[in-house]
Amino acid sequence: MSYTIVLLPGDGIGPEVIAAAQAVLEASELPARYLSYPIGYACFRREGTALPPETLAAVRTADAVLLGAVGSPLERVPGYRSPVVALRRELELYACLRPVRTPPLPGARPGVDLVVVRENSEDLYVGQEQREGDTAVAQRVITREASARIARWTAAYAQRQGRRRITLVHKANVLRETCGLFREAALAALAATPELQVDELLVDTAAYQLARAPERFDVILTTNLFGDILSDAASAWGGGLGLAASANLGERHAVFEPVHGSAPDIAGRGIANPLATFGAATLLLEHLGEHARAARLHAACQAALRQGVWTPDLGGQATTADVTRFVIDHLTQPEPAAQL
Ligand code: NAI
Ligand code: MG
Repeated sequence: MSYTIVLLPGDGIGPEVIAAAQAVLEASELPARYLSYPIGYACFRREGTALPPETLAAVRTADAVLLGAVGSPLERVPGYRSPVVALRRELELYACLRPVRTPPLPGARPGVDLVVVRENSEDLYVGQEQREGDTAVAQRVITREASARIARWTAAYAQRQGRRRITLVHKANVLRETCGLFREAALAALAATPELQVDELLVDTAAYQLARAPERFDVILTTNLFGDILSDAASAWGGGLGLAASANLGERHAVFEPVHGSAPDIAGRGIANPLATFGAATLLLEHLGEHARAARLHAACQAALRQGVWTPDLGGQATTADVTRFVIDHLTQPEPAAQL
């Protein structure tokens, strides 16, 4: 059995961290072939599209996809839209998962072990917007079906992972229709798993609690835009954007990526922290059912943190190549499973 892994390096530091992750996956001796396809802004400039049809066709046939990052200019560029939303829509990747755990770093807040699950297919984040003169309008579409689907997915995930509590996050006191429907549909779906504890928080309170008492959370379930924002905030407890990883999952496809963007400020300097992408690769291995390889890769990344192999974002001087070499050495040592 050999897997087909499609790599989408993208823009900025994307190619640097994806090359590192491929080397690490190869060192883990995963039986796989790796196919690399273009995506993103540089691809748009070159080919006139940010998500070429060949890229889309390849990701459809892949066992899993590892995405680096895609850059988007803040100002409007005619014809350009970030392909990330289109990719999620085309592949029906309706669940976005972002785990955050206390890292083995000095000064890290102990006891944090939470997961943000974000509905990935609707809400303001899909960017249905119009401008007329000096008025801009965004459309927020929330459906019962998508809300119930993400709630069912979250309950199943929580049970698989031995998690016990789901905190539903919304703003139904003000957005009575959109958040109200999300809340109603999610609570109804979650009623099917009475063994899971369910509570709810308004999004502003959730943000405050995440900043104040992150250890109180287990699974956070929320809508697309709230999830985008809360998961970045939560990632601070996990060692920051240089470590945060995410999975975009649907019934048939799975795309794994670091939470960070293309980091144009450090691109090309060889100092990007590859651990976020190694974390995404770990989620990818778990998704494939390669649990032993996932555990070994996770242990190797933890060892790099513990032993001070830190890139500048963590206060160290290691390069992307240093971290990658350390992780590969750790993976290829005899009896790495004993390191767990
Ligand atoms: P960013 O995540 O690219 O960078 C934020 C800060 O974190 C920067 O100072 C950067 O140097 C640092 N950083 C990020 N990843 C790092 C890593 N692996 N190692 C060390 N430092 C790291 O966010 P920013 O600057 O807001 O966005 C830059 C571009 O990325 C934009 O065009 C944005 O649209 C895009 N973006 C793409 C995402 C994706 O592809 N999924 C997600 C977020 C942003
Ligand atoms: Mg984000």
